[in-house]
Amino acid sequence: MAKGFYISKNMGLAGLLIGAVAVVIIIALAAVYDKEKTKNQNKPVDGVAMLTTASPTTSSTLSTPKDPWEHYRLPDSLSPVSYNITLWPRLVVNASTGLYIFTGQSAVVFQCKKDTDLIVIHCNKLNLTLLNGHHARLTGLDGATAPTVKTSWLQVKTEYLVIQLNGKLTAGKSYRLSTDFQGELADDLKGFYRSEYTEDGGKKVVATSQMQATFARKAFPCFDEPAMKAVFHITLIHQRGTVALSNGRDVDGTEVTMTRFEPTKRMSTYLLAFIVSDFDHITGSIENNNVRIWARRKAIAEGHGNYALNVTGPMLKFFQRYYNASYPLSKSDQIALPDFNAGAMENWGLITYRETALLYDPAISSVGNKERVLTVVAHELAHMWFGNLVTLRWWNDLWLNEGFASYVEYLGADYAEPTWNIKEQTILNDVHKVFAVDALASSHPLSRKEEEVNQPDEISEMFNTISYSKVLYVLEHLLQQGFLCSRTSPTSYLNEFAFNNTVYSDLWDHLQKAVLTTPGMSLPHTVHDIMNRWILQMGFPVVTIDTATGHITQKHFLLDPDSVVDRPSPYNYTWLVPIKWMKGGVEREQHWLLQETGISNATGSEWVLANLNVSGYYRVNYDMDNWERLLNQLTTDHTVIPLINRAQIVDDAFNLIIYYQVPSVLILYITRYLSQERDYIPWESALRNLNYYILMFDRGQAYGVLQGYLKMQITPLFEYFRTITVDWTRVPTGHNDQYNQINAISFACRMGVERCRVLTSDWFREWMLNPDHNPIHPNLKTTVYCNAIAAGGVAEWDFAWQMFKNATVATEAAKLRSSLACTKVPWLLNRYLDYSLDPAKIRKQDCTSTINYIAGNVVGMPLAWDFIRARWNYIYTEYGGGSFSFSNLINGVTRRFSTEFELKQLKQFKEDNARVGFGSGTLALEQAIERTTANIKWVAENQEHVMKWLRNNEKVILL
Ligand SMILES: *[C@@H]1O[C@H](CO)[C@@H](O)[C@H](O)[C@H]1NC(C)=O
Ligand SMILES: *[C@@H]1O[C@H](CO)[C@@H](O)[C@H](O)[C@H]1NC(C)=O
Ligand SMILES: *[C@@H]1O[C@H](CO)[C@@H](O)[C@H](O)[C@H]1NC(C)=O
Ligand SMILES: *[C@@H]1O[C@H](CO)[C@@H](O)[C@H](O)[C@H]1NC(C)=O
Ligand SMILES: [Zn+2]
Repeated sequence: MAKGFYISKNMGLAGLLIGAVAVVIIIALAAVYDKEKTKNQNKPVDGVAMLTTASPTTSSTLSTPKDPWEHYRLPDSLSPVSYNITLWPRLVVNASTGLYIFTGQSAVVFQCKKDTDLIVIHCNKLNLTLLNGHHARLTGLDGATAPTVKTSWLQVKTEYLVIQLNGKLTAGKSYRLSTDFQGELADDLKGFYRSEYTEDGGKKVVATSQMQATFARKAFPCFDEPAMKAVFHITLIHQRGTVALSNGRDVDGTEVTMTRFEPTKRMSTYLLAFIVSDFDHITGSIENNNVRIWARRKAIAEGHGNYALNVTGPMLKFFQRYYNASYPLSKSDQIALPDFNAGAMENWGLITYRETALLYDPAISSVGNKERVLTVVAHELAHMWFGNLVTLRWWNDLWLNEGFASYVEYLGADYAEPTWNIKEQTILNDVHKVFAVDALASSHPLSRKEEEVNQPDEISEMFNTISYSKVLYVLEHLLQQGFLCSRTSPTSYLNEFAFNNTVYSDLWDHLQKAVLTTPGMSLPHTVHDIMNRWILQMGFPVVTIDTATGHITQKHFLLDPDSVVDRPSPYNYTWLVPIKWMKGGVEREQHWLLQETGISNATGSEWVLANLNVSGYYRVNYDMDNWERLLNQLTTDHTVIPLINRAQIVDDAFNLIIYYQVPSVLILYITRYLSQERDYIPWESALRNLNYYILMFDRGQAYGVLQGYLKMQITPLFEYFRTITVDWTRVPTGHNDQYNQINAISFACRMGVERCRVLTSDWFREWMLNPDHNPIHPNLKTTVYCNAIAAGGVAEWDFAWQMFKNATVATEAAKLRSSLACTKVPWLLNRYLDYSLDPAKIRKQDCTSTINYIAGNVVGMPLAWDFIRARWNYIYTEYGGGSFSFSNLINGVTRRFSTEFELKQLKQFKEDNARVGFGSGTLALEQAIERTTANIKWVAENQEHVMKWLRNNEKVILL
C-alpha cells in the first residue's frame, strides 16, 4: 500500500497550514497511512471481533494450540496452483435480506506436498452453500482419487474453512476444491465491498475490493498468504452498461453481462482486485494504449485524471529502465474510488486509489495535492516489480516491499517532475518522521521474527512509519556508494525471484554480489553485517563528535535517555555508522564508526559538520564550542551549510536539547537565524519542532510569551512573501517556495499576526458573499478556510459545511473537512464529533482523521478525548482493525498529553477497555503512554528554562 503516512504527509503539510489545528506530529507519528490509509473492523456478526479482542495481539505466541486450524498460519502440506473464480456483485439491495450481496463460485487446484487428511483454507464471513452436505466438493485430478469428506466446518477465530477427509491426499498429486458461496457487499472497505457516491442526483454503487493484508478470504475461499502464489482465472458477472475490471485484460469485451479475464501471472492473493462500476476512463497514447485512468464519469469528463495519466507513462518508462525489466503485465489500470481506506493499493494491474491520491484538478487543487498524486502513483507503480513480481514471504518483512518502494518512489517522481527537487523532502517526510517513533523505547526492529506476526491485527500493525521509511535511509548510504545505482543488484534480484517470494537476506545476497563484482567498490564489512544491525535492532544512534579531542562515539538515541529498553539486541545497540563529514566547508574522507574512534583532523577552530546531506540514519551531537561555531556560521552566512543539513541541525538541536544537556541557548540562536532563512526545508523542520513547544505550552500560562516571540520570528517571512507575491496577488514559481508561502501565512496567523487574520477573513468573506466564485488560491485554501473559521462563528462554520456537502472534488472536500475542525466554538466542535460517526455525513474512511483534526485544535482536544473514551466500544467495533488510521487516532488525540492527570486517564482508559481491546492501535497506545511520560518530564525540566530565555530574548529584541 501507499504509506499511511501519505495521509500524515499531507496532514503534515495541511497541519501547518491550518493554524490552530496545525499539528504535525513531531513525536510519534507512527501510524501511517496512508496509506492515508486505513481499515476497519467488521461488525461482529459472527463473533470475529469479539474473539479477536479477547485475545490481545501479543497472546498468539503465548500458548501453543494443538490443532492446525487453531494456528494462524497455514500448514505446509498443500500448495495452490490455480483458481477459477466467478463473482457476481449486486449493485442493488437484496429485497429479502435487506443487504447488498455478492454470490460466487470458486475452484482451486492445489498440489499436495505432504500426505494429509486435512484441508485448511482461509474463508471469512462467507455463507457457503452445502454441496452434498459439505462446505466444498473435492475432486482428484490426473487420475488421483479424492478421499471423501468426513466433516467440514468454519473455524471463525482463525478464519478458516476446515475439511477433514476419510482418507489421505497423496504427496505429488493434484486436487480441485470447489465452493459456492454468498457474501455481503458491505461498506466496510475490506475484501469485496461497496462504495457509494452521488451523480446526476442519484445514488450510485461501485463494487470494489481491498485484499491487503488478509481480506481476500472475505471474497472467496483461498490460501491467503503472500507466498501461496497461484494463477487466477477471474470472471465477473455484472449488469449491461457497467464495466468490470480486474488484474488482467478482459477477454470478452465489456458489453456483455459476463466479463472473463485472461489468467493472471503467478501472484499473491492480497494483490487481487475486482471492480464493477459505471466509471469512465481515459487512455494514454503512450507506446501502447494499455494505460488507463478510471474514475467517476464527471471527474473524467472534467479532466481530473489527466495529470495521473501524464505522469504514468514517463514513470513506467523510468522504472523499466531502472529495474532493467519490462512491465510484467499486459495492461495497467488505475482507478479512483469514492470510498477507500488506505491511500492506494498496488493490486497488480489494477491499482486502487482514494480520489485525492489520483485525481487532480488544476483549477481547484493545490501544489500539495498535485505532489501527492505524483508520489503515490510513483510508489504504487514501483510496487509492480518490487512487491508484486517479487513478494515478501511473510508480513514480518513488510518493509522489504514498502521500504524499497518508498525509496524508488522518489526516483520515479523526480524523473517525472525534475524541477521539484522532490528528493529534498525525504528528510521531512521520512527521516524526521521515523526518528520521532524510532527514538522511543517502545519502538521495534524493522524486521520482526516470522513467528511474532500471526494474527490479522499483528499484520496490520506492521504497516507503520518504520516499515515504510527507515530502510530508505539506511539503504541510501549504500546507494550513494553506487551499489543500487549500478542497478545490477535489483535487476539480478528481480530476475532470480520473479513470480516468487523472498526474505530480506536474499536482497543482501544480491547487494553483496554487486559489491564484489563491481570494479572499484569496496566496503569495510559485508552488506549483511552492515544492514542487519540496522534492521534487527530497533532505534538508531546519536553520534557525538568532540572537536577538542577528535573523539567520536555512538550511543543508542532515546527520546528519554532514562527510559528502560527491555528488548535485548544481538548487537548491543551499536551500529556500523557511515560518517560523511565536512570541516570548514570542505568535504572530508568518510569514516565507518563502530567503536569509539578518533578523527585526527576533526580538531581545530573551524566548524565540523557530520552526516553530510543526511545520507545516514543517525543524529549528531557536538561539543559546545563546535555548536557555537556552527551557529555563528548560520547567523553570518547560512548558505555555506548545505540546505538539507540546515534542516538537520535544527532537528538535531531541538531533539538533543530535550534531554541531552545541550543548553537551550542553542534554540535561541537557531530561531534567530530563522528570521534570515527563506528556504522551505529548514523552515518546515523548525516549525515541526516548534510545534512541539506549542503543543506542550498552548494550554499554559507560558504560551503568551512564546507566541509573542515566534510572532517576531515569522513576521519577516510573512512580509517577504507579501512582497514577492505583490500583496498576495500571485503565487511564487518555485515548488518549495509555494509550500513555504503556505507555511508563512499559516504560522503567522497562528501566532497572531494581525495582517494575516485580516487577509484570511476577508478572502473567506468574499467567498461567502459569492459562493460560486471562490477567490482563494488553491494552495492557500486550507490555511485560509481554517483561520477564517477559527476567527469566525456559526455563519462561517455552516457556510463551510454547506460547501463541504456540495463539493464534488475530493481534495476540496478534504480541505473543508479539516478546516471545519478549526472553530473555537465548543458546541460546534461537539456537533462535528457526532457527525464524524455518521457515515451519511462523514465517510467511514474519514472518521478517524476527522476526530484527529478536532483533537489538533486546542479547544477540541479535551472534547475529542472525552468523545473517544465514551464511545470506544462502538468506534472500535465499527472502525477499528485498520492498519493506519486506528493507531493514528490514538496518537492524534493524545499528542498534547503532558500532565500526570492525563497520564492517569490514559492508563485508566487502557484498563477500562482491556476487554474491548485496541486492535491495531495496541502499539500506538503503548507509545502514547511512553510519550506522555516523556512529555511530563520535558515540561517539568524545560518550561521554566524556556520561559526564562524567551523573556530575556524578548527584552533583547524589544530594546
Ligand atoms: C478453469 O476454467 C478453465 C476454462 O473453463 C478450465 O480449463 C480449467 O480447468 C478450470 N480450472 C479450474 C481450477 O477449475
Ligand atoms: C449469511 O448467513 C447468516 C445466517 O443465516 C445471515 O444472517 C446472513 O445475512 C447471511 N449473509 C448473506 C450475505 O447472505
Ligand atoms: C498533460 O499533458 C498535456 C500534454 O503535454 C498538457 O497539455 C496538459 O496540461 C497536462 N495536464 C496536466 C493536468 O498536467
Ligand atoms: C521460488 O524460490 C525458491 C527458493 O529460491 C525455489 O526453491 C523455488 O523453486 C522457486 N519457485 C518458483 C516457482 O520459481
Ligand atoms: Zn506500498
